Amino acid sequence: MNDRPDSRDARKAAEAPLGPEHSPLSPLSVHNMTVAYHRRPVLWDIDYDAPEGGLIAIVGPNGAGKSTLIKAALDLVPRASGEVRIFGRPYRQQRRLVGYVPQRETVDWDFPVTALDVVTMGRYGRIGWLRPISRAHRRAAQVFLEQVGMGEFADRQISRLSGGQQQRVFLARALAQEAELYFMDEPLAGVDATTERTIIDILRSIRADGRTCIVVHHDLQTVRQYFDHVVLLNGRIVAAGPVSEVFTEENLARTYGGKLTLLEEAGQALAHGRVTGEPNDDA
Ligand SMILES: Nc1ncnc2c1ncn2[C@@H]1O[C@H](COP(=O)(O)OP(=O)(O)OP(=O)(O)O)[C@@H](O)[C@H]1O
Ligand SMILES: [Mg+2]
Repeated sequence: MNDRPDSRDARKAAEAPLGPEHSPLSPLSVHNMTVAYHRRPVLWDIDYDAPEGGLIAIVGPNGAGKSTLIKAALDLVPRASGEVRIFGRPYRQQRRLVGYVPQRETVDWDFPVTALDVVTMGRYGRIGWLRPISRAHRRAAQVFLEQVGMGEFADRQISRLSGGQQQRVFLARALAQEAELYFMDEPLAGVDATTERTIIDILRSIRADGRTCIVVHHDLQTVRQYFDHVVLLNGRIVAAGPVSEVFTEENLARTYGGKLTLLEEAGQALAHGRVTGEPNDDA
Protein backbone atom coordinates (compact mmCIF):
# COMPACT_ATOMS: atom_id res chain seq x y z
CA MET A 1 0.00 0.00 0.00
CA ASN A 2 1.14 3.55 -0.22
CA ASP A 3 1.06 4.06 3.54
CA ARG A 4 4.73 3.25 3.87
CA PRO A 5 6.41 5.60 6.37
CA ASP A 6 8.11 7.64 3.65
CA SER A 7 4.85 8.44 1.85
CA ARG A 8 3.23 9.31 5.19
CA ASP A 9 6.09 11.71 5.87
CA ALA A 10 5.67 13.23 2.44
CA ARG A 11 2.01 13.79 3.14
CA LYS A 12 2.80 15.38 6.49
CA ALA A 13 5.30 17.66 4.84
CA ALA A 14 2.70 18.67 2.28
CA GLU A 15 0.32 19.58 5.07
CA ALA A 16 2.85 21.56 7.08
CA PRO A 17 1.46 24.90 8.23
CA LEU A 18 2.09 27.68 5.74
CA GLY A 19 3.70 29.93 8.33
CA PRO A 20 2.80 32.00 11.37
CA GLU A 21 1.17 34.71 9.25
CA HIS A 22 -1.48 32.26 8.00
CA SER A 23 -4.46 30.98 9.94
CA PRO A 24 -4.75 27.18 9.72
CA LEU A 25 -8.53 27.54 9.97
CA SER A 26 -8.95 29.90 7.05
CA PRO A 27 -11.21 28.54 4.28
CA LEU A 28 -8.53 29.59 1.78
CA SER A 29 -4.89 30.37 2.50
CA VAL A 30 -2.57 31.26 -0.32
CA HIS A 31 1.13 31.56 0.41
CA ASN A 32 3.64 33.28 -1.80
CA MET A 33 1.99 32.10 -5.02
CA THR A 34 3.12 32.82 -8.55
CA VAL A 35 1.23 31.59 -11.61
CA ALA A 36 2.56 31.85 -15.16
CA TYR A 37 1.19 30.91 -18.57
CA HIS A 38 3.96 30.02 -21.03
CA ARG A 39 6.49 31.43 -18.54
CA ARG A 40 4.79 34.81 -18.45
CA PRO A 41 3.70 35.49 -14.85
CA VAL A 42 0.10 36.64 -14.56
CA LEU A 43 -0.07 36.45 -10.75
CA TRP A 44 2.77 36.98 -8.34
CA ASP A 45 3.44 37.41 -4.60
CA ILE A 46 -0.07 36.29 -3.78
CA ASP A 47 -0.46 35.97 -0.01
CA TYR A 48 -3.96 35.80 1.31
CA ASP A 49 -6.13 34.34 4.06
CA ALA A 50 -9.87 34.41 3.47
CA PRO A 51 -11.97 35.07 6.55
CA GLU A 52 -14.51 32.39 7.37
CA GLY A 53 -18.22 32.87 6.80
CA GLY A 54 -18.32 35.93 4.61
CA LEU A 55 -18.98 37.13 1.10
CA ILE A 56 -15.67 38.07 -0.46
CA ALA A 57 -15.39 39.89 -3.79
CA ILE A 58 -12.38 39.59 -6.08
CA VAL A 59 -12.24 42.80 -8.08
CA GLY A 60 -9.86 43.94 -10.80
CA PRO A 61 -9.65 44.81 -14.50
CA ASN A 62 -9.93 42.31 -17.37
CA GLY A 63 -6.84 40.17 -17.49
CA ALA A 64 -5.95 40.93 -13.85
CA GLY A 65 -5.76 37.21 -13.07
CA LYS A 66 -9.03 36.85 -11.16
CA SER A 67 -10.09 33.60 -12.86
CA THR A 68 -6.51 32.37 -12.71
CA LEU A 69 -6.41 32.93 -8.95
CA ILE A 70 -9.42 30.67 -8.51
CA LYS A 71 -8.13 28.05 -10.95
CA ALA A 72 -4.74 27.96 -9.24
CA ALA A 73 -6.45 27.50 -5.86
CA LEU A 74 -8.38 24.55 -7.33
CA ASP A 75 -5.31 22.96 -8.97
CA LEU A 76 -6.84 23.60 -12.42
CA VAL A 77 -3.73 25.48 -13.52
CA PRO A 78 -0.26 24.76 -12.18
CA ARG A 79 1.44 27.13 -9.75
CA ALA A 80 4.97 28.21 -10.59
CA SER A 81 5.58 28.61 -6.86
CA GLY A 82 3.73 28.90 -3.61
CA GLU A 83 1.15 26.87 -1.76
CA VAL A 84 -2.57 26.81 -1.19
CA ARG A 85 -4.57 25.36 1.70
CA ILE A 86 -8.31 24.87 1.97
CA PHE A 87 -9.21 24.69 5.67
CA GLY A 88 -5.59 23.83 6.40
CA ARG A 89 -5.10 21.09 3.83
CA PRO A 90 -4.27 20.78 0.14
CA TYR A 91 -7.27 21.00 -2.18
CA ARG A 92 -7.03 17.37 -3.28
CA GLN A 93 -7.94 16.35 0.29
CA GLN A 94 -10.75 18.87 0.57
CA ARG A 95 -12.58 18.60 -2.74
CA ARG A 96 -15.87 17.78 -1.10
CA LEU A 97 -15.78 21.03 0.87
CA VAL A 98 -15.43 23.19 -2.23
CA GLY A 99 -17.97 24.26 -4.86
CA TYR A 100 -17.04 26.08 -8.07
CA VAL A 101 -19.12 28.06 -10.53
CA PRO A 102 -16.88 28.75 -13.55
CA GLN A 103 -16.97 31.90 -15.67
CA ARG A 104 -19.78 31.39 -18.15
CA GLU A 105 -17.91 31.72 -21.41
CA THR A 106 -15.48 28.95 -20.38
CA VAL A 107 -18.18 26.25 -20.20
CA ASP A 108 -18.99 23.93 -23.12
CA TRP A 109 -22.74 24.35 -23.35
CA ASP A 110 -23.17 21.85 -26.19
CA PHE A 111 -22.68 19.01 -23.76
CA PRO A 112 -25.86 16.91 -24.21
CA VAL A 113 -27.25 16.93 -20.69
CA THR A 114 -30.36 18.34 -19.07
CA ALA A 115 -30.49 20.98 -16.38
CA LEU A 116 -31.34 18.29 -13.83
CA ASP A 117 -28.34 16.19 -14.96
CA VAL A 118 -26.03 19.16 -14.44
CA VAL A 119 -27.28 19.70 -10.90
CA THR A 120 -27.21 16.00 -10.09
CA MET A 121 -23.53 15.98 -11.12
CA GLY A 122 -22.96 18.42 -8.28
CA ARG A 123 -23.82 15.61 -5.90
CA TYR A 124 -21.33 13.10 -7.30
CA GLY A 125 -18.96 13.92 -4.44
CA ARG A 126 -21.58 12.42 -2.17
CA ILE A 127 -22.84 9.68 -4.45
CA GLY A 128 -19.47 8.33 -5.61
CA TRP A 129 -18.86 7.94 -9.31
CA LEU A 130 -19.56 4.25 -9.63
CA ARG A 131 -22.81 4.08 -7.76
CA PRO A 132 -26.10 4.52 -9.53
CA ILE A 133 -27.72 7.88 -8.94
CA SER A 134 -30.52 7.35 -6.49
CA ARG A 135 -33.92 8.85 -6.86
CA ALA A 136 -33.26 10.73 -3.61
CA HIS A 137 -30.30 12.54 -5.20
CA ARG A 138 -32.34 13.49 -8.26
CA ARG A 139 -35.07 14.76 -5.96
CA ALA A 140 -32.50 16.80 -4.04
CA ALA A 141 -31.19 18.18 -7.33
CA GLN A 142 -34.74 19.17 -8.30
CA VAL A 143 -35.11 21.09 -5.01
CA PHE A 144 -31.92 23.05 -5.72
CA LEU A 145 -33.16 23.83 -9.23
CA GLU A 146 -36.35 25.17 -7.68
CA GLN A 147 -34.32 27.31 -5.27
CA VAL A 148 -32.79 29.13 -8.22
CA GLY A 149 -36.17 29.44 -9.94
CA MET A 150 -35.36 26.83 -12.61
CA GLY A 151 -37.59 23.96 -11.47
CA GLU A 152 -39.70 23.96 -14.60
CA PHE A 153 -36.62 23.64 -16.83
CA ALA A 154 -35.33 20.40 -15.25
CA ASP A 155 -35.66 18.36 -18.46
CA ARG A 156 -34.39 21.07 -20.83
CA GLN A 157 -31.00 20.52 -22.50
CA ILE A 158 -28.59 23.10 -21.08
CA SER A 159 -27.64 24.26 -24.57
CA ARG A 160 -31.25 25.37 -25.03
CA LEU A 161 -31.32 27.66 -22.02
CA SER A 162 -30.57 31.37 -22.05
CA GLY A 163 -27.29 32.62 -20.58
CA GLY A 164 -28.88 33.76 -17.31
CA GLN A 165 -30.77 30.48 -16.99
CA GLN A 166 -27.56 28.51 -17.56
CA GLN A 167 -25.91 30.59 -14.88
CA ARG A 168 -28.65 29.70 -12.42
CA VAL A 169 -28.34 25.99 -13.26
CA PHE A 170 -24.63 26.15 -12.48
CA LEU A 171 -25.39 27.90 -9.23
CA ALA A 172 -27.85 25.11 -8.37
CA ARG A 173 -25.14 22.56 -9.13
CA ALA A 174 -22.79 24.32 -6.71
CA LEU A 175 -25.52 24.44 -4.05
CA ALA A 176 -26.14 20.72 -4.56
CA GLN A 177 -22.55 20.11 -3.49
CA GLU A 178 -23.42 21.53 -0.04
CA ALA A 179 -19.88 22.89 0.15
CA GLU A 180 -18.27 24.96 2.91
CA LEU A 181 -16.35 27.19 0.50
CA TYR A 182 -17.61 28.41 -2.85
CA PHE A 183 -15.68 29.97 -5.68
CA MET A 184 -17.93 31.77 -8.17
CA ASP A 185 -16.46 33.41 -11.25
CA GLU A 186 -18.67 36.35 -12.26
CA PRO A 187 -22.01 34.74 -11.37
CA LEU A 188 -23.73 38.11 -11.85
CA ALA A 189 -22.29 38.90 -15.27
CA GLY A 190 -25.01 39.46 -17.85
CA VAL A 191 -27.97 38.42 -15.70
CA ASP A 192 -31.15 40.47 -15.35
CA ALA A 193 -32.20 42.22 -12.15
CA THR A 194 -34.46 39.37 -11.01
CA THR A 195 -31.75 36.77 -11.47
CA GLU A 196 -29.27 39.05 -9.72
CA ARG A 197 -31.63 39.28 -6.76
CA THR A 198 -32.08 35.48 -6.71
CA ILE A 199 -28.34 34.92 -6.75
CA ILE A 200 -27.65 37.52 -4.06
CA ASP A 201 -30.32 35.99 -1.82
CA ILE A 202 -28.62 32.62 -2.24
CA LEU A 203 -25.21 34.09 -1.44
CA ARG A 204 -26.68 35.63 1.71
CA SER A 205 -28.22 32.36 2.81
CA ILE A 206 -24.84 30.66 2.31
CA ARG A 207 -23.30 33.34 4.52
CA ALA A 208 -26.06 32.96 7.10
CA ASP A 209 -25.03 29.28 7.41
CA GLY A 210 -21.47 30.40 8.23
CA ARG A 211 -20.18 29.26 4.86
CA THR A 212 -17.82 31.29 2.68
CA CYS A 213 -18.18 32.57 -0.89
CA ILE A 214 -15.34 34.01 -2.92
CA VAL A 215 -16.92 35.75 -5.89
CA VAL A 216 -15.32 37.45 -8.88
CA HIS A 217 -17.36 40.60 -9.29
CA HIS A 218 -17.14 43.17 -12.06
CA ASP A 219 -19.65 45.77 -10.93
CA LEU A 220 -17.87 48.27 -8.72
CA GLN A 221 -21.17 49.99 -7.90
CA THR A 222 -22.50 47.04 -5.93
CA VAL A 223 -19.38 45.89 -4.09
CA ARG A 224 -20.28 47.75 -0.89
CA GLN A 225 -23.85 46.62 -1.01
CA TYR A 226 -23.21 42.91 -1.55
CA PHE A 227 -19.85 42.02 -0.02
CA ASP A 228 -18.13 42.03 3.37
CA HIS A 229 -14.56 41.67 2.16
CA VAL A 230 -12.77 42.54 -1.03
CA VAL A 231 -9.56 41.51 -2.76
CA LEU A 232 -8.34 44.14 -5.22
CA LEU A 233 -6.27 42.32 -7.78
CA ASN A 234 -4.12 43.29 -10.71
CA GLY A 235 -1.37 40.72 -11.17
CA ARG A 236 -0.69 41.07 -7.48
CA ILE A 237 -2.96 41.84 -4.57
CA VAL A 238 -3.22 45.62 -4.38
CA ALA A 239 -5.24 45.48 -1.16
CA ALA A 240 -7.42 42.99 0.69
CA GLY A 241 -9.66 43.25 3.73
CA PRO A 242 -13.04 44.50 4.90
CA VAL A 243 -14.84 46.45 2.19
CA SER A 244 -15.26 49.43 4.54
CA GLU A 245 -11.49 49.73 4.94
CA VAL A 246 -10.11 48.59 1.62
CA PHE A 247 -12.59 49.65 -1.06
CA THR A 248 -11.27 53.20 -1.30
CA GLU A 249 -10.82 55.47 -4.27
CA GLU A 250 -7.06 55.40 -3.77
CA ASN A 251 -6.90 51.59 -3.82
CA LEU A 252 -9.20 51.44 -6.85
CA ALA A 253 -6.93 53.88 -8.67
CA ARG A 254 -3.98 51.63 -7.86
CA THR A 255 -5.90 48.60 -9.13
CA TYR A 256 -7.33 50.03 -12.34
CA GLY A 257 -4.53 52.39 -13.30
CA GLY A 258 -5.70 54.85 -15.90
CA LYS A 259 -9.08 53.33 -16.69
CA LEU A 260 -11.04 56.44 -15.89
CA THR A 261 -14.55 55.39 -16.76
CA LEU A 262 -14.34 52.60 -14.23
CA LEU A 263 -12.87 54.95 -11.68
CA GLU A 264 -15.67 57.42 -12.21
CA GLU A 265 -18.16 54.62 -11.73
CA ALA A 266 -16.43 53.64 -8.51
CA GLY A 267 -16.31 57.26 -7.39
CA GLN A 268 -20.05 57.47 -7.85
CA ALA A 269 -20.57 54.32 -5.84
CA LEU A 270 -18.43 55.76 -3.06
CA ALA A 271 -20.30 59.06 -3.20
CA HIS A 272 -23.60 57.24 -2.87
CA GLY A 273 -22.17 55.80 0.32
CA ARG A 274 -23.91 52.49 -0.17
CA VAL A 275 -22.35 50.70 2.75
CA THR A 276 -24.77 47.95 3.63
CA GLY A 277 -28.35 47.03 3.06
CA GLU A 278 -30.63 45.21 0.75
CA PRO A 279 -30.49 45.26 -3.03
CA ASN A 280 -32.08 48.37 -4.48
CA ASP A 281 -35.71 48.08 -5.22
CA ASP A 282 -35.23 50.14 -8.34
CA ALA A 283 -33.03 47.36 -9.76
N1 LIG B 1 -4.90 29.31 -20.69
C1 LIG B 1 -4.21 30.44 -20.83
N2 LIG B 1 -3.07 30.48 -21.57
C2 LIG B 1 -2.34 31.60 -21.68
N3 LIG B 1 -2.67 32.78 -21.11
C3 LIG B 1 -3.79 32.81 -20.38
C4 LIG B 1 -4.63 31.65 -20.21
N4 LIG B 1 -5.67 31.98 -19.42
C5 LIG B 1 -5.51 33.28 -19.12
N5 LIG B 1 -4.39 33.79 -19.69
C6 LIG B 1 -3.88 35.17 -19.56
O1 LIG B 1 -3.62 35.40 -18.17
C7 LIG B 1 -4.05 36.69 -17.79
C8 LIG B 1 -5.08 36.57 -16.68
O2 LIG B 1 -6.25 35.94 -17.18
P1 LIG B 1 -7.55 35.70 -16.31
O3 LIG B 1 -8.50 34.92 -17.13
O4 LIG B 1 -7.14 35.12 -15.00
O5 LIG B 1 -8.04 37.21 -16.09
P2 LIG B 1 -9.37 37.73 -15.42
O6 LIG B 1 -8.98 38.73 -14.38
O7 LIG B 1 -10.23 36.61 -15.00
O8 LIG B 1 -10.04 38.53 -16.64
P3 LIG B 1 -11.60 38.73 -17.06
O9 LIG B 1 -12.09 39.90 -16.24
O10 LIG B 1 -11.51 39.10 -18.50
O11 LIG B 1 -12.34 37.46 -16.81
C9 LIG B 1 -4.57 37.36 -19.05
O12 LIG B 1 -3.53 38.15 -19.58
C10 LIG B 1 -4.90 36.20 -19.97
O13 LIG B 1 -4.74 36.57 -21.31
MG1 LIG C 1 -12.07 35.93 -15.57
